[in-house]
Formats: sequence, C-alpha cells, structure tokens
Amino acid sequence: MIDIRALERWYQAHHRDLPFRQTKDPYHIWVSEIMLQQTQVETVLPFFERFIKTYPDIKTLAEADAESLQRHVEGLGYYRRFRLMQEAAKIILVDHDGVFPDDHDKVLALPGIGRYTAGAIMSIAFGKPYSAVDGNVIRVLSRVLLDEQDMRNSANVKRLDAINQTFIEKADPAIYTQALMELGALVCRPRQPRCDICPLQKNCLAYQAGRQETLPYLSKKEPQTVHACITLVLTHPKGYVLRKRSEELLKGMYEWPQFEAESIHTVLDHLEQLDIQIEIVGEPRRYRHVFTHRIWEMTVYQARLISGMHPEWQVIDADEFNDIPMAVAHRKIKK
Ligand code: ADE
Ligand code: SF4
Repeated sequence: MIDIRALERWYQAHHRDLPFRQTKDPYHIWVSEIMLQQTQVETVLPFFERFIKTYPDIKTLAEADAESLQRHVEGLGYYRRFRLMQEAAKIILVDHDGVFPDDHDKVLALPGIGRYTAGAIMSIAFGKPYSAVDGNVIRVLSRVLLDEQDMRNSANVKRLDAINQTFIEKADPAIYTQALMELGALVCRPRQPRCDICPLQKNCLAYQAGRQETLPYLSKKEPQTVHACITLVLTHPKGYVLRKRSEELLKGMYEWPQFEAESIHTVLDHLEQLDIQIEIVGEPRRYRHVFTHRIWEMTVYQARLISGMHPEWQVIDADEFNDIPMAVAHRKIKK
C-alpha cells in the first residue's frame, strides 16, 4: 500500500521546477511526455523549450515541414515518436477542431499515444484519474509492493498498472502521477535509493526486506548486434553527397553513403559495378555508435566523387548541410 498523502506532501515540498510543470496545456504536457519517455530530463529541457517556441500549438505542428521538424528533434533519438506525433497533430486538427481531446479513449486512439502517455496527459493536464506507469513508476511500485515478477513482461506491468489505477482514484491525479515519477527520479533511484529520506519508507516492503536494489526484476534484453560499416564522407564540387534513409531505423534522416562491409575494397568494387568512381583521401578514422539493439562500427573514409551517381544519393549544398535532419552518428563525422 502507498501512503498517498505522504507522497503528495513530499512532491509539493521537493519537486523540481521544470518548464512543463508551469502549465496544464495538454499540448505542452503531450510534447514533454513524448520527449521524456525515452530521454532524460536534462537532455530534454533545451529541446522542449525550442520545440514549443518553434511549434507553439497543435496547428503549427500539424502544418510544419517534416524535415525541419526532424531537424528540431535531432539528438533525442527514437525519431519515429515525432513522426507519429505530427500525424496525431493532423488528426486533432481535422477531427477535433485543433483542440486536444479530454476523453481518454479519444486520446488513446491517437498515433504514438499508448497507455502511459494517455494516462500522463489525462492526469497531469486534465486532472482525471488515469494511471500512467513508466520506468520510474515501475521501479517505485515494484519496490513498495515487493513485486518480484519480470517487468520486461507486459502482463506484469499491466498488473502494476491496475493496482496503480486503484491508488490514483484516491489521489489528486495530477500531483500523484508526477509525484511517483519524481520520487523515482530523485529518491527511489535505480542505484542507491535514498530510503532514508523517502516518504514511502514506512510501508515499503522492499525496504523492510532489504531488497530495494534488486528490484525491479528485468530479464536479460535482446543482445545488440554489431554491424561493421564503411562510411564515406563524400564530397562533390557542388556540395556533399548524402542519402536519405528509408529504413525504419532513422527513417527520413540523411546519412553519408554507408555500406555494411568490412573492407573499403568491397565498397569500391560495388561502386565500380554501378559506374561510380570515387577517390579516397587520407587515412580512415573509426567510430562506434550504439543504438538500442544495434552497434555501428564505422570505418570512415574521406572521399571525392569523381564520376557517376548512385540512384539513392543526393548532392546537398554546403549551405543546406546544417538545416537537413541527419543521423547524429553521421553529422559529427564531417571534418
Ligand atoms: N518522466 C516522464 N514524465 C515525467 C515528468 N512529467 N516529470 C519528470 N520525469 C518524467
Ligand atoms: Fe524506494 Fe526506498 Fe522509498 Fe522503498 S523506501 S520506495 S525502495 S526509496
């Protein structure tokens, strides 16, 4: 059981003064929750402020140029969430007159909004009691309740969500949701939780059992696969030679021509068959970029395009380079 009153009092006294906490505007809460879902608060802050300045309302977001939107979130990772967000903004504009719906089912029906985000928006922006269970909340609840089930299994998270729903119905929804997240971020941290200053300590079963650091139980993840890549920082008299990604990973972002290969000779042979000639300049550099399930081990060559053109390549003017969305792993390798 959670001491809701103690939790709410703790939040009122100790929460961080974050920009998205100075508003109940559902659009602002939505943007912040989408960003915070997979990115840490400190990283999100400058992005959030810039995003709200550039796209102050749902209509601006719905009508934004897709590439400049991508450029504005470059560096946050997991870019699909922002493409889905723009899709949702278009739906709100057409189906809800541009007004963010305050009905749970309508919110849940929007692209990119799952149970967590819907619960967060309903409770924080509209003060309605809908549970929102993210990683922070899973940690706090699994500890307080000494729930040792595998939280990588969604059936077990669903059970926590149902229990949390009974709690939020007895609480001030906006304060309760944010208080659990804030407690998870500041006190009930993954390592070395501050049980000594925790408002939930009295009823916390993990604390009583000395098991707090072993919870939540998360079974082993899918292993990361390593991909050896040859990457060409390829120039042309008219600018840079880039490719727009069509793969689900980093879709729509530009990259330097990159090939899954161990050796530059494989790449040169492949290009020759397409009647493309390049000239390599200088020695290669090596970079490693880690994604969730994938590692790129990049060997980067500086090169000049001498003749021919790949159907997927585009020449981008040097002036435009800073305005196009680009995979961060690739933007930083330009000399
Ligand atoms: N993580 C996700 N949502 C959050 C919020 N509203 N405050 C702090 N951390 C969060
Ligand atoms: Fe987390 Fe410790 Fe508080 Fe329990 S007492 S909720 S383990 S910080």
